[in-house]
Amino acid sequence: MKKSQNPVSSKTAPSSAPRVAIAILAAGKGTRLKSQLPKVLHEVGGKPLLAHVIAAARRVLPARDIFAIVGHEAGRVRSTLGQTGVNFVLQSEQRGTGHALMVAREAVSPYDYVIVLSGDAPQITPQTVAQLLNFHLDERAAMTLLSADLDHPTGYGRVIRKKSRSAEVQAIVEEKSATPAQKRIREINAGFYIFSVPQLFQHIGKLSTANVHAEYYLTDMAEVLRQAGQRVAVWKTENPAEVLGANTRAELSFIDSQMRARKCFELMSEGVTIYYPASCVIDNDVAIAADTVVEPFVQILGSSRIGSGCRIRSYSVIRDSEIGDGVLIRPGCVLEEARVGRGAVLGPYSHLRPGSDIGEGAHVGNFVETKKIKMGKGSKANHLTYLGDAEIGAGVNIGAGTITCNYDGVNSIPP
Ligand code: UD1
Ligand code: CA
Repeated sequence: MKKSQNPVSSKTAPSSAPRVAIAILAAGKGTRLKSQLPKVLHEVGGKPLLAHVIAAARRVLPARDIFAIVGHEAGRVRSTLGQTGVNFVLQSEQRGTGHALMVAREAVSPYDYVIVLSGDAPQITPQTVAQLLNFHLDERAAMTLLSADLDHPTGYGRVIRKKSRSAEVQAIVEEKSATPAQKRIREINAGFYIFSVPQLFQHIGKLSTANVHAEYYLTDMAEVLRQAGQRVAVWKTENPAEVLGANTRAELSFIDSQMRARKCFELMSEGVTIYYPASCVIDNDVAIAADTVVEPFVQILGSSRIGSGCRIRSYSVIRDSEIGDGVLIRPGCVLEEARVGRGAVLGPYSHLRPGSDIGEGAHVGNFVETKKIKMGKGSKANHLTYLGDAEIGAGVNIGAGTITCNYDGVNSIPP
């Protein structure tokens, strides 16, 4: 989908123009991760879980209509994701997914529909969200939920349909309350919903905490609305991978490996050779041009940009760096916030620290460390050298064991 396309506005023609908001459930602690870090800040594909969900949401609606409901370590979550421009709603006590929506009532009430996304399910696509909304509008439902068939549904809520093939839902049953027969149902509640806002808030007060966790479950809205004579619909995605939630470290690593495999296959389809992709760690936002070869056990992280016709040999780790065309990076190099001009040769075992700017065709060799330097075109520092805070012109050959620095052992000397 092109970025300029707004999947929601295509359905919602100006004449009807319903007002749509997105609420992202992101207040939970993530007890099962056993972590100091709030769940939604745990990373997959090199970015926090919530950053992925916000990115998908922003391709559906503008940031002003997106509300992330935060609670556990809210300050930390806000400071990490504040620059996305979305709104934050504070759920100071986390009393369940239903309670999260109660807390968001004031923020969401001005809208006709609210799309609810799960902050811990990072692979959701804008296309699926738009399809779910369109289905909800077609069905004229009060609540529509996204479902998927999973081979291993344990842990998820199960969808009880009114009749086996009907789009109407009887109830959602949480794993802990499910009977053995219900546990055999493979159709799970993905944790993504559309609600018609007036119906949601007219009936949300009927949720109770009479369950094993003593929480207000948003999933109980299915039964509450149905009992109030409202229509509750379900739409099943053909792509179960996109709804997986990261509740445990094992699920986190599974989702991360899926994302990274997908990234490698995308790059390969664009002309990058990656040998043994399962051994490479390439973050989602990395760009690599065609005809570059990535050898086994390479990490390319953050916002790194790699040109075409490069060769990145094994055991190199490149973070937030810009590499020109035709660069050879020999084994074991570490680059952080560095720039490398076209045709340069690095390594083996070079360490380019932040602010290293290596000119076209330059060579930085074995056990050479650089920091805040500009190295001119074709210059060479081939062996055992530290180059810091220096400007080296073009065509210079630096001998083995040379040191440049602005530190006298106690103080940094200003240039
Ligand atoms: C939930 C659903 C389950 C579904 C699964 C899909 C409920 C009761 N169950 O279970 O049917 O199969 O998602 O992944 O909703 N959160 C808050 N405030 C709270 C509690 C949770 O914002 O008070 C947030 C969490 O941070 C998380 C999301 O809501 O991002 C879902 O909560 P979680 O505890 O992970 O629910 P599941 O047990 O996965
Ligand atoms: Ca979850």
